[in-house]
Amino acid sequence: MTMTLLEQLRHICGPANVLTHEDPATDLSPWEQDWRKRVTGRALAVVRPGDTAQVVAVVKTCAAHQTPIVPQGGNTGLVVGGVPDSSGTQIVLSMTRMNAVRAIDPANLTITVEAGCVLQNLQVAADKAGFLFPLSLGAEGSCTIGGNLGTNAGGTQVVRYGNTRELCLGLEVVTAQGEIWHGLSGLRKDNTGYDLRNLMIGSEGTLGIITAATMKLFPQPAAQLTAWAAVPSMEAAVQLLGLAHQRLGPGLTGFEVMGQFALSLVDKHFPQLRVPLWQGTPWCVLLENSDSESESHARGQFESLLEAALEQGCVSDAVVAENLTQAKSLWHIRESITMAQAQEGLNIKHDISIPVSRIPAFVAETDALLAQNVPGVRMVDFGHLGDGNLHYNVQAPEGADGSVFLRDFEDRVNTWVFDQVQRFGGSISAEHGVGEQKVHKLPIYKDPTALAMMRAVKQALDPHKLLNPGRVLG
Ligand code: FAD
Ligand code: MLT
Ligand code: ZN
Repeated sequence: MTMTLLEQLRHICGPANVLTHEDPATDLSPWEQDWRKRVTGRALAVVRPGDTAQVVAVVKTCAAHQTPIVPQGGNTGLVVGGVPDSSGTQIVLSMTRMNAVRAIDPANLTITVEAGCVLQNLQVAADKAGFLFPLSLGAEGSCTIGGNLGTNAGGTQVVRYGNTRELCLGLEVVTAQGEIWHGLSGLRKDNTGYDLRNLMIGSEGTLGIITAATMKLFPQPAAQLTAWAAVPSMEAAVQLLGLAHQRLGPGLTGFEVMGQFALSLVDKHFPQLRVPLWQGTPWCVLLENSDSESESHARGQFESLLEAALEQGCVSDAVVAENLTQAKSLWHIRESITMAQAQEGLNIKHDISIPVSRIPAFVAETDALLAQNVPGVRMVDFGHLGDGNLHYNVQAPEGADGSVFLRDFEDRVNTWVFDQVQRFGGSISAEHGVGEQKVHKLPIYKDPTALAMMRAVKQALDPHKLLNPGRVLG
């Protein structure tokens, strides 16, 4: 007697790890709805493998049944890349049971973890071993390292440590054919052909399923100080960034910019957070200085940087956090912008990068363009200025119906903003990825030869479009 697909999947992962709509008591919405609640798909099943062998068996079984697989980690992605479509024919491969720390190699400065390991748990494991794992983002309490690798996530420490790609030394991957690529080398140098690791990273689950990764560890800094500065313009913020690079060198581990309206939303929706110095200034900047010597050395450096900035007029006021609790509160304000914006209502998010030197002109021109075309538009601008990455977000005018605003303006706003990004030599996705959200925009803004090479790679590695179809390349 031949088993059905679901019977086979239950046989592989255990009945408790194959969730379906057949059981009316099971709520699949945590896996079917994206974080922004913009899309709700319908899964044939949510399958939760416990080890790499089970992933292999699931992939082979799905391939035999021509059933597409949507890999999913913490489902915190912001571009609709990790949820199923509405057909009811795709399985969600939820990686969260595969969350073990496999090994720490202190001499090699590496940690090897399974893909479903929550980022915060990875940070804690590194910390307990006396090291720093620097990847840090607002969703770190629920996103997974597999998802971080899948999207090549950025976050708030990229200015010093790079994005997820730069933190990865090796991968274990299950291919669309159900083979295992054993690539957990932990080597810093390996020139034996094409760089498959970097091909997999940022491929958003369309080329292979990452089951484990070897990541870099760093020495913990002796001190980490945070400052909050009011700046009179975006030009001044860029000038301050230059000064900070000059004065702090590799000590500069964070440089985030936040617009006044973005901070006003945090103040409105989370008044208990007490946002400093925001009302009389168009922009605030959050800076972090990590020092390998001592706290007093770090404080001295920070104070002299801020004095110079005040003298040069690129800062109008500033505070340096007195202790870790204060520093955490400042970071918490920054990390709360996303949630405050969501609470304010439906909005259009952008995740763009532009050469830092051109950001002031981009913002001035694009703000004017949008104000002219969308009367009353409210800009929620913030992001990783140190990396040239802005979340250049657009909120509906005060009192407007968010869904009507999206219906009438979303596509046009995207086109206005992305055309500007292209004119300024930027990218339409700096860190969140393409997912389903930007899939129809990629052919417009990506170099056609690059796009053709991407299609050839997809065809070679996943000819039957088993892995996350409809994402990245459509
Ligand atoms: P998911 O959302 O589950 O999946 C994301 C993509 O990766 C999907 O395409 C999925 O198919 C693929 N994928 C997941 N696991 C695997 C795997 N094991 N193998 C292959 N493919 C896989 N992003 C940033 O870059 N910087 C930020 O600062 C940032 N801040 C955020 C703050 C908040 C409050 C929120 C909600 C999100 C933020 N994000 C940020 C976006 C998101 O957290 C990241 O994209 C994160 O890397 C996604 O991880 P995840 O485990 O939730 O992945
Ligand atoms: C951030 O930097 O906070 C994130 O990328 C999330 C967002 O864009 O809202
Ligand atoms: Zn970001």
